[in-house]
Amino acid sequence: MVIARTIEELQKAKEGLQGSIGFVPTMGALHQGHLSLIQRAVEENDHVIVSVFVNPTQFLEGEDLDAYPRREAADTQICERAGVDILFMPTIDQMYEPDELCIGAPAIRGYTLEGQKRPGHFDGMLQVVMKLLNLSGADRAYFGKKDAQQLALITQMVRNYFMNVEIVPCEIIRDEKGLALSSRNAYLSSEEKERALALSRALKRATKLVMAGEHNTETIKKEMLDILKEADRIDYAAIVDRDFIAIEEVEIGNTIILVAAWVGKTRLIDNVWI
Ligand code: PAJ
Repeated sequence: MVIARTIEELQKAKEGLQGSIGFVPTMGALHQGHLSLIQRAVEENDHVIVSVFVNPTQFLEGEDLDAYPRREAADTQICERAGVDILFMPTIDQMYEPDELCIGAPAIRGYTLEGQKRPGHFDGMLQVVMKLLNLSGADRAYFGKKDAQQLALITQMVRNYFMNVEIVPCEIIRDEKGLALSSRNAYLSSEEKERALALSRALKRATKLVMAGEHNTETIKKEMLDILKEADRIDYAAIVDRDFIAIEEVEIGNTIILVAAWVGKTRLIDNVWI
């Protein structure tokens, strides 16, 4: 495995690759969720590039940019074992110029839910993903459904800008109790980890209600909010269609149920696709 820290090193390492390229962009502190994307990329492509870059432009003022877990040695080992060809770990000045042309997230999808709670987050996320996709030259790029809105916006960006890469959505990986894996789970104490289960429990309850024939979204949301009381603060419990527009009735095959809540100082998100 080649470790590339500069654009030049990445380009040079890529010269040695023949055949299809799969790409998995991450912010590191890799866990089984990331690994499932990497493994799928390894299965479906001749070569795989993984990036680890804690992207400053997608963190808002006062968010956890400095505290975000950084585990370079462990990440390197995980990638090496998984059969990754190139691990790209650039510095900030490799990725950004002082004065940049920026991509804005779209008006509706980019500014509801996560976009409303974290205004500007998706602008910075799209900016770096555009750069990373272009640098990777990948045929396919793998993203988790865990970040449902992120996935939808990246898919839209690729379509709107005629980018020549296939975006592959991947299933959410959870621990044995149901907690969606996240690098931010590292912040949780064991007591907080128990209460963090409220998010997946609320989603499980919602799914059960839908399967039992309850399609009224207000009724479902009320039950979810009741379960989410275990968290310290609820950002939202939402039921939307695949375009992230709020809906009154669940439509099987076109619905996403999402939750965002704080447990202690940690902000968690989770969702289920119905
Ligand atoms: P990060 O949070 O490190 O996630 C990298 C990729 O792993 C994303 O596509 C995310 O959806 C996926 N992922 C995280 N947890 C997952 C889980 N439990 N199950 C399945 N997939 C999971 O998302 C980012 O980084 C950044 O915004 C990035 C796209 C790299 C741009 O900076």
